[in-house]
Amino acid sequence: MAHKLKIMVLNGPNLQLLGTREPEVYGAETLANLEERCRKRAAQLKMTLDFFQSNHEGELLDRIGSAKDNYDGIVINPAAYTHTSIALRDAVSGVAVPTVEVHISNIHSREAFRHTSLLAPVCAGQICGMGTYGYELALLALDNLITKK
Ligand code: DQA
Repeated sequence: MAHKLKIMVLNGPNLQLLGTREPEVYGAETLANLEERCRKRAAQLKMTLDFFQSNHEGELLDRIGSAKDNYDGIVINPAAYTHTSIALRDAVSGVAVPTVEVHISNIHSREAFRHTSLLAPVCAGQICGMGTYGYELALLALDNLITKK
């Protein structure tokens, strides 16, 4: 039987507030609901999924660091750290696990400081502006990237 892909889904600062935080920008879905939807999609794709949110850069770094040899892929919404964290970028490039960056909003149509992602150059790709559906798209993209190469 083919090896079941193991995927880590990471969410950065303030994403625990999904559903109530600026719903006109981030939508009405809660993080718990998003997790449930990701799990359904992962089951369809025969993936196992670990889902984690933290407001602490170091905790996100520890999770990414533990991905080497333990996960086949990472989906990350680094939230505000996208625009500031060289450390998260170095972690993603250091573990060399295929990673897809997700943003719920279209960061390119918002304030100038959101237009730059320090992580995007070391990710397989970036999905943004598709709302929380972007996470499912990222799972599909990883499945395609990993199993069909
Ligand atoms: C975000 C976009 C970031 O600029 C912002 O800081 C977030 C969420 C998004 O999902 O659209 O916290 O990553």
